[in-house]
Amino acid sequence: MSVAGKARKVTTNTLQEMKREGEQITMLTAYDYSLARLVDQGGVDVILVGDSASNVMAGNDTTVPITLDHMIYHAQCVCNAVNRALIVVDMPFGTYQGNSRQALDSAIRIMKESGAHSVKLEGGREVVESIQRILTAGIPVMGHLGLTPQSIYKFGTYTVRAREDAEAEKLIEDAKMLEKAGCFAIVLEKIPAKLAKQVSESISIPTIGIGAGSDVDGQVLVLHDMLGITMDFSPRFLRRYLNLENDIRNAVEQYVSDVRSHDFPSSDEQYE
Ligand code: KIV
Repeated sequence: MSVAGKARKVTTNTLQEMKREGEQITMLTAYDYSLARLVDQGGVDVILVGDSASNVMAGNDTTVPITLDHMIYHAQCVCNAVNRALIVVDMPFGTYQGNSRQALDSAIRIMKESGAHSVKLEGGREVVESIQRILTAGIPVMGHLGLTPQSIYKFGTYTVRAREDAEAEKLIEDAKMLEKAGCFAIVLEKIPAKLAKQVSESISIPTIGIGAGSDVDGQVLVLHDMLGITMDFSPRFLRRYLNLENDIRNAVEQYVSDVRSHDFPSSDEQYE
């Protein structure tokens, strides 16, 4: 039986074993109880309570405004639903950069108040000290390199990262630093597939790609994007598995029409 098939509960060790055995890791985001339950039942290995909640749940343009309290709330909702998947929670912007004591306090709040299993934070060498401090408390950390949306105002665009040699070399070094610091896996976002392959081959911890090609150790997508709820976002890497935006709008229009025409509720849909 496969490593994933044997795992009644996915742990960081399961993911590392999956990499060793060449099994692809599946990861999706979730932010609420109802969808997290379905994602877990669908057999996904890792559920990311992403700070993309800032975009898809709250309607903000960036991930910058979401707070630690918001992330803990979303993480609590997800934790109430999940039986098998490993739950990773994004540390929001401003809760870990440059101050490892603050990073540790933020990570402890996430773990204590939500019941999640691990945290994720963005960046390379500049956050290594924070990662090491969080790990001293026994909290597993996932890294995130390439396109790091919390730094959008520094980069100015959401285009592919590390196309130039210097940035690519820095990214490889950063990945090695995150591995050495003790991260259990690294998300690689929107970088050339060739570079993602090189990174994945040069470290022993799993890489999970989004817009990073197929030669990585696993894939992640934002749930609302792959379900077709966020149709205004169409990057090349996104595969849509449903077109819920249409289906939901049609259902709502049908409901409005049924109520207005007195079709709903029918005699079977009311009490005597
Ligand atoms: O917040 C998020 O959804 C993420 C994924 C894009 C990896 O960080």
